[in-house]
Amino acid sequence: MHNEIDLNKIDLNSEPPTEEPARQYYFMAKCREWVREFERKNGRRPFAFTQTFGCQMNARDSEKLEGVLSMIGFAKADNEEADLVLYNTCTVREHANLKVYGRLGYLKTLKKKNPDMLIALCGCMMQEETVVEKIKKSYRFVDLVFGTHNLYKFAELLYHRFSSGKITIDIWKDTEKIVEELPTDRKYSFKSGVNIMFGCNNFCSYCIVPYVRGRERSREPEQIINEIRSLVESGVSEIMLLGQNVNSYGKTLKNPITFAELLLEVEKIEGLKRIRFMTSHPKDLSDELIQVMKTSKKICHQLHLPVQSGSSRILKEMNRKYTKESYLSLVHKIREAIPDISLTTDIIVGFPGETKEDFAETLDVVRKVRFDSAFTFLYSKRTGTPAATMNNQVPEQIAKERFDRLLKEVQEIASEQIQRFEGQTLEVLAEEKNEQLDGYLTGRLSHGIVVHFQGEEELIGKIIPVKLTQAKGFYYMGCKAVGD
Ligand code: SAH
Ligand code: SF4
Ligand code: F3S
Repeated sequence: MHNEIDLNKIDLNSEPPTEEPARQYYFMAKCREWVREFERKNGRRPFAFTQTFGCQMNARDSEKLEGVLSMIGFAKADNEEADLVLYNTCTVREHANLKVYGRLGYLKTLKKKNPDMLIALCGCMMQEETVVEKIKKSYRFVDLVFGTHNLYKFAELLYHRFSSGKITIDIWKDTEKIVEELPTDRKYSFKSGVNIMFGCNNFCSYCIVPYVRGRERSREPEQIINEIRSLVESGVSEIMLLGQNVNSYGKTLKNPITFAELLLEVEKIEGLKRIRFMTSHPKDLSDELIQVMKTSKKICHQLHLPVQSGSSRILKEMNRKYTKESYLSLVHKIREAIPDISLTTDIIVGFPGETKEDFAETLDVVRKVRFDSAFTFLYSKRTGTPAATMNNQVPEQIAKERFDRLLKEVQEIASEQIQRFEGQTLEVLAEEKNEQLDGYLTGRLSHGIVVHFQGEEELIGKIIPVKLTQAKGFYYMGCKAVGD
C-alpha cells in the first residue's frame, strides 16, 4: 500500500499527474501546504471530525477519508467543534436522512461561532439530486459536497475548496473505476473491513442502494489478496469482506472467479485468523460456498442472510428472487453442514401490500429459523424506487404494531438461542476495554456474539479461550480459560 508515500518528494510546481492514485497524492501534498499555512497562522494543527452514518461500506469509506485527512496533517477531533467536519451520509431509510439534516442545523450554530469552520458532506445521500438541491438552497453554509463514486478524489476536491474559497460540489452519476492504493486510517489495529466489490445490481424494489452506489463492480482478486496480506503484516488477524451481495463477487471480472474461490485464496494467507463477510443474498448462495465454509479453519461460523419477508408473495414484489420455501431449505442445508452456525438477518415490516397473512408468514420464518439476531426495519418509502409508487402502502399504525410484535418475537428467540453455548469454552477475539466494567474486556466469538470477561488491556487484539459462564439476553459473561 502507498500509506508510506513521501509527500515531500512530490513536485508541487509541476502540473497535476493525470493518472490515479498519483494525482490524489499530488493534491494531498497541495492540501498539506494549506495545513502548514493554517499552523503558522494559528499556532496549532487544524482539527477534523468525521461522522459516519449507515453501513459497513460507509465505515470503510470513512477510513479512507480519514487516511487522507491524517496524511495532509489534520489532527482528529472527537466532536463537531472542529475546523473541518465531514459527514459520510446514508440514505437507506428516511430516518438516516433526517438525522443528517438535524445535525446540519447544529453545525450552523457552530459555524456562527467559528466562521472559518469547513463543512463537508459525502456518501449515499449526496447521490440524490433532491438532496443536493436542498443543500444548495437551504444549507448554504456547507462548503464541500461529493458522492460515492468520486470519493477517491477527496484530496483534489478539498484542495479545490481551499484554493477557490467557494462551495465545491462534485457528484458523479456512476463510475466503472476502482482506484486502489489510497491511504487509509484504520479504526482497529487487529481487524479490518476489506471491500471486495462496490455497487449493487439487484434492484430490490424498496431499496435505494443501487441508485446511489451504482452498478456492481468487483475488485481484482490480486488486489484484495495483496491488501489482506499487508493488513496481516501490520497486525490484523480478522477481516470482514464487504459487498452488498458478496455471493455474486467476481462474475463481471475479465477472468471470472466465484466468491467461494476467492475465500479459498484468502484462507491461504498465513497469519490471518478469522474471515467474515457480508452481505450474502440468499438467491446467490451456492453449495460451493457452503462446502468452503464447512471445511475452512478461518471462516467464522456466522452468516448474515437477510430474509426481508417470510411471504413468497411479498418477496416477489420485493424482487428478491427466492421464496419462503427456498429460503427455509437453504437454511436447512447450511445448518446441516455447519450445525453451530449463527444465523442473523434483516427483516422489513410494512412493505406495500403486506397483509396480516403475509406478516404471519414472516413470524413463521422467524420461529422456524430461530435467528441469533435480526435487524428489523419499518418499511421506509424511498423516492425513485419502484415500491415508492405502489399504491397500497401500509398505514403507519398497523406497520408499527407488526414491528413491535416482530421485535418481541425476535428478541425472545435470540435470548434463547444464545444459551446454546453456555458453559462451553470458546475462542474470543478481545476487541476493547469494557467501558462499564472496570478491568473487563469485550470481545467476540467466531459466531459474532459479544462476550465480556475480566482481562488486561494487553490482550486486546488477541484470540483467547474464554469460558462462557452466563448468557445474558444477547451477550455472554465469561472468564478467561488460560491456564485452566
Ligand atoms: N445488500 C444488503 C442490504 C443493504 S441495506 C442485502 O441485500 O441484504 C440493509 C438493510 O436495510 C436491508 O437488508 C433492508 O432490510 C433494509 N432496507 C433497505 N431499504 C429499506 C427501506 N426502503 N425501508 C426499510 N428498510 C430498508
Ligand atoms: Fe438493496 Fe437488494 Fe442491493 Fe441489498 S441486494 S443493496 S437490499 S438492492
Ligand atoms: Fe446507507 Fe449507503 Fe450503506 S445508503 S446502508 S450507507 S450503501
